[in-house]
Amino acid sequence: MSDIEQLVARATAEFSGIGDAALLEQAKARYLGKSGSVTELLKGLGKLDPAARKDAGAAINSAKERIESALNARREALRHAALEAQLKAEALDITLPGRGLPTGGLHPVTRTLERIEALFRAIGFDVADGPEIEDDFHNFTALNTPENHPARSMHDTFYLENAPGLLLRTHTSPIQVRYMETHKPPIRIIAPGRVYRVDSDATHSPMFHQVEGLWIDEEVSFADLKGVFTDFLRNFFEKPDLRTRFRPSFFPFTEPSAEIDMSCVFCDGNGCRVCSQTGWLEIAGSGMVHPNVLRHVGIDSEKYIGFAFGMGPDRLTMLRYGVNDLRLFFDGDLRFLQQFK
Ligand code: DAH
Repeated sequence: MSDIEQLVARATAEFSGIGDAALLEQAKARYLGKSGSVTELLKGLGKLDPAARKDAGAAINSAKERIESALNARREALRHAALEAQLKAEALDITLPGRGLPTGGLHPVTRTLERIEALFRAIGFDVADGPEIEDDFHNFTALNTPENHPARSMHDTFYLENAPGLLLRTHTSPIQVRYMETHKPPIRIIAPGRVYRVDSDATHSPMFHQVEGLWIDEEVSFADLKGVFTDFLRNFFEKPDLRTRFRPSFFPFTEPSAEIDMSCVFCDGNGCRVCSQTGWLEIAGSGMVHPNVLRHVGIDSEKYIGFAFGMGPDRLTMLRYGVNDLRLFFDGDLRFLQQFK
């Protein structure tokens, strides 16, 4: 084999043994660079006589071309290998199932409030709202609650430190006052919302919920109160045989007043642990709106009359879902809350 052919064979073998692009370029310089072997051969052509020069030149050029094409082939192979490696390293398995987004759910008390609203809307009640920071007038005075009433004491009510006369409302009843101030009878509303009291144990939380109900018109009677509320409870608990009883009681803003009990939804009134063997569960306060309340909001108490009630949706939720500690609703423990999704 001639020297030139050996050179081509050596270059081709060397290139194909190189696995790194930078090393390949260094090898190229050794053959095709300024003082590379092929370049040296070309420089030597000048010393040959013209007859020999033509053949030698053609042979060297052919060798140069073959070395260049071996180089390019190797460059291409290395680029391809690098791309393959990158694709492999960054591979995504698009056949894996997605992780999905967890769906949220409504809080059990929110579900109860929405259920109560739907049931009362269905019989023509509107849903009213009011501020959680109330003034003394709407929370107490307008509701015929005298200065010395225990509900007004510091032990019972959260007062705002730098705002005299302002407090966290202790019940949703001020909403009925605000509504009557701005609307004329006939009035038919329920008013759900958060309320606050200085109280905390398994059945009391410093923040809890109430739903106030109010119906004012020219001929609304205690019988209407009994009918509306009993019907509501039967629908809420899906128990057509549920019974209610109205026990005489006292609230400053109603006269007469009554505490409403319903037959225990766990034992149907036979007596069990939940109802302390009595067969009855206390569920709401109620009564005929006191004429003084109507006077406070400028409604003619000779012409209009009506009933009001206030109930605890937290308790309704506990009874509906069989939860025995009120605090679970407000601890924010997802293990508990997720069961209601
Ligand atoms: N506001 C009363 C409470 O928080 C509940 C209540 C009782 C509301 C009788 C009423 C009512 O509207 O007529 O204990």
